Amino acid sequence: MCGICVCVGSVNAVKKVFDGLKILEYRGYDSSGIAFIENDKIKCVKTVGDISNLEEKISSLQSNIAIGHTRWATHGGVTIENAHPHLSASKNLAIVHNGIVENYKELKKEFNISTTSQTDSEVFCDLIEKENGSLLEKTISASKLVKGGFAIALLSNLGEVVLAKRENPLYVAQTSFGVMATSDIYVFCDITQKYYTLSDDEFAKIENGKIFFFDKNGKKIKKKCEKIKKNLKKVEIFEKTHMKSEILETKNSLFMTYKNYQSGKLFEKIFLPKKLESICLIACGTAYHSALQGAMYFKKIKIPSQAYIASEFRYGDEILNKNTLYILISQSGETLDTIACAKMLKEKGMALLALTNTENCYLNQICQNILPTFAGKEIAVASTKAYSCQVFVLYLFSLFLSGKFLDKKKDIEDFLKELSLTDIDEEIVDYVASFEKIFFVGRGFDYITALESSLKLKEITYINSFAICAGELKHGTLALVDDKTIVISFCTFKKTKEKLFSNLEEIIARGGKVLVVSDEIVPFKSVRLPTFLEEFMPIVSVIPMQFLALKICEKLGYNPDKPKNLAKSVTVE
Ligand code: F6R
Repeated sequence: MCGICVCVGSVNAVKKVFDGLKILEYRGYDSSGIAFIENDKIKCVKTVGDISNLEEKISSLQSNIAIGHTRWATHGGVTIENAHPHLSASKNLAIVHNGIVENYKELKKEFNISTTSQTDSEVFCDLIEKENGSLLEKTISASKLVKGGFAIALLSNLGEVVLAKRENPLYVAQTSFGVMATSDIYVFCDITQKYYTLSDDEFAKIENGKIFFFDKNGKKIKKKCEKIKKNLKKVEIFEKTHMKSEILETKNSLFMTYKNYQSGKLFEKIFLPKKLESICLIACGTAYHSALQGAMYFKKIKIPSQAYIASEFRYGDEILNKNTLYILISQSGETLDTIACAKMLKEKGMALLALTNTENCYLNQICQNILPTFAGKEIAVASTKAYSCQVFVLYLFSLFLSGKFLDKKKDIEDFLKELSLTDIDEEIVDYVASFEKIFFVGRGFDYITALESSLKLKEITYINSFAICAGELKHGTLALVDDKTIVISFCTFKKTKEKLFSNLEEIIARGGKVLVVSDEIVPFKSVRLPTFLEEFMPIVSVIPMQFLALKICEKLGYNPDKPKNLAKSVTVE
């Protein structure tokens, strides 16, 4: 959420920062901007909307120091005034900021700060300017006054550049053309092999082409260089959109994931509680849906399990247990609420396991155990292939815990070999899109697929939809069903098939229409899935629903990769 890019080098830094921002755009696309030095003064260029709007404005600019930002609006609307970088009152300091200054109103009042924007970021910039000492010293003391997480880069009119980080990610690297810093190491692909990760309450100063690190007391510290992993590559897409490419990559992603797990070694490395009594899965959004699927897999092998939404778990009164394994699931490994749960559980000495799709993410740094998914970089805001891989790894882990991992080898390999991704016919797309209300229902595993399908539809088509357990309809929601309603129902969970059909008849009797997604011939209009063992069906049945959301989105003329109001990594509360 919000992307930061910095370049101090021997080249045109404005262009380098712009190139970085283009890669970071998926983290926020409300506005973008770059600040740079020209004739000992800070100049700032900003635009609202697509980053291509910025390209024109910067094409003739030259400077060897620049800081840039892509914004996902938190405080203040999507306007030029609220776009970053922000300048201090004297215009001698510029800031780019990711995160939230929770106490910005109090700080503004206490330090008598007047701002031109409605952002908390501008207050942070003025606060730093009002402190005493060098830019580094001012930043360190201002940071102590700020509540909340942040990643910031500062540029002074004297050409000083300072970085600071708490909770939100920030990386810095020495490259062949100078120093680059960014909120996503992905920017470093093809630029450098080595980089540094700033830890919480650490600071960096870029001076004379070198990087110096400091702790929260201003003491110089040494940091270990990390290597960019070979599999971190720039994404090339062969389809019109990232989302389509990513859905189509699902089979390969599952295959790559299995390849890394098939020996069982990644599972063997995990430190489990001495007596594993239960499993608690914590995540947000789509990752929460995979947590729900995971809990079902674990319950099937008789381990009491429960999935929680991270933003609820962290403020709830859950009773913690040292014999519980806490699995934190996050594609990005950056989601603030999930990270807050991990930190809280770690402080209390609980056994943690991170299930992530991003190497060296913050969540991996907190948790002692890591299960990676090998889905490959996911750029589209709507998660697709990463979700399938999360569900798959949780299934494999349940097999490992039950001691049946190797016995199931053949079933898994047959599944991966025979899996074909079910697309959805245009006729069905038009049919579904013709309804005013689109509900999703299911029972058991299928209910979770209903939740995920409804979320996909909402986030990229902006059609109001929800999911409900099929058996719950008659307890209230059936009142909404009329001839403007279509209920999409999943039918792969065999135990309740007959009951589900009765629920669907109840819908038809009220004038609603039904569409059933099933691997069997059913007495309703349907989308036919290939048949696999029941445990694989959550992975199979979500695919046509991802295509459905994508195709309706395209028909409505929206960009599925950049849904309105959203961004890929949610690094604020
Ligand atoms: C929806 C979607 C989001 C994310 C959620 C958690 O398609 O992608 O709901 O699943 O924001 O993100 P991660 O998995 O990065 O923690």
